[in-house]
Amino acid sequence: MNSIFPDSTQFFTGKKSIILLKEFIKKELQPDKIFILTDENTNKFCLKPFKKIIKGFDNIIIIIIASGEQNKTLASCETIWSELAHNKATRKSLIINLGGGMISDIGGFVASTYKRGLKYINIPTTLLSQVDASVGGKTGIDFKGVKNMLGVFSFPEAILIYPPFIETLDERQKKSGYAEIIKTALACDKSFWQQLSELDFNEIIDWQTLINRTISIKLQVVNADPFESGFRKVLNFGHTIGHAFESYSMKHDNTPLLHGEAVAMGMLCETMLSNKISGLKNEETKFIIDYLLKNFNYYSIKLEAFPELFNYIFQDKKNEADEFQFTLLSSPGRAVVNQKTNIEIVTQCLKEYINLKVEPASENHFLF
Ligand SMILES: NC(=O)c1ccc[n+]([C@@H]2O[C@H](COP(=O)([O-])OP(=O)(O)OC[C@H]3O[C@@H](n4cnc5c(N)ncnc54)[C@H](O)[C@@H]3O)[C@@H](O)[C@H]2O)c1
Repeated sequence: MNSIFPDSTQFFTGKKSIILLKEFIKKELQPDKIFILTDENTNKFCLKPFKKIIKGFDNIIIIIIASGEQNKTLASCETIWSELAHNKATRKSLIINLGGGMISDIGGFVASTYKRGLKYINIPTTLLSQVDASVGGKTGIDFKGVKNMLGVFSFPEAILIYPPFIETLDERQKKSGYAEIIKTALACDKSFWQQLSELDFNEIIDWQTLINRTISIKLQVVNADPFESGFRKVLNFGHTIGHAFESYSMKHDNTPLLHGEAVAMGMLCETMLSNKISGLKNEETKFIIDYLLKNFNYYSIKLEAFPELFNYIFQDKKNEADEFQFTLLSSPGRAVVNQKTNIEIVTQCLKEYINLKVEPASENHFLF
């Protein structure tokens, strides 16, 4: 059985944690086989330091899938399920997801569905997955071009946060992770947001402190509402429009938006919406928008994109029946869930978004 509540997920952080995780696997899990799921980049950059963990274990099988959001699909699941079957995985086998959020989302989903559930461990290797995707038990894949359409809640046995992994990420990937740190602060923690609002992304050196604080906030939220029946939706701030941008970009752009890049622009639009719907003050709205534009690339969209964007927004799982339900801000550091809105107000915000006066340097030059 996978862990039912996140409380029972073991956390290992810091450099020495590799040894502790090894002990945990040996003593507590005692797997008959270990499958390590990687993509070609984590296979190249992360497998070597990770070999300390697997040294001494027999029956290690490494599975490599193609990287990137465009591969978080049923076809990749089939590849992994086939590898598991081919190598005779049993209910005593363990899957280790060594990668970013794409790997932990798909690996958790595959583990939870194969033979009604194998145990799995997440070892997140991107900033985004260390602060967000690997924590909280949401697993899944994209389907028919819609983000996370298929999936289950399923909690890993353990999560290892190993700081040196993020050293091989490029700046775009790091910024993408920073967007989820900003989201957590804006949605849940005023003092954390105040601290971040005085920082510039380019000046951050102490990532570990930011990672630890973000995880601890997320854990508090997830433990209060593991299956997202209400309160946990605060963490979806920026994601309704963010997911629409991400799906749209995946379909139309040669170099699609990264998840965090889409979420950053989603937060920008949903900050505007918060000003109209949930009482976010004018000066707070302006401050957040300026901060997001200073730290993230602006994504250009045209009016012609609106019908398709609304199609994605309607598909978003946060909407019940035909109503738009958003998670919005009532003030910086405080998100409110189930905020009802309508197509006219969202259209107005998107129009304000496309009319923003943006410095050319902040524009997303690789699009269109
Ligand atoms: N389940 C959740 O709660 C949750 C939360 C947020 C995001 N997500 C999902 O996470 C995904 C995004 O995660 P991501 O940003 O980690 O993307 P990703 O897993 O696609 O990784 C981004 C890129 O970095 C590469 N990479 C990974 N680790 C590396 C390393 N250490 N050095 C060099 N390259 C490395 C990958 O191969 C990939 O090319 C999206 O699918 C999103 O929907 C899930």
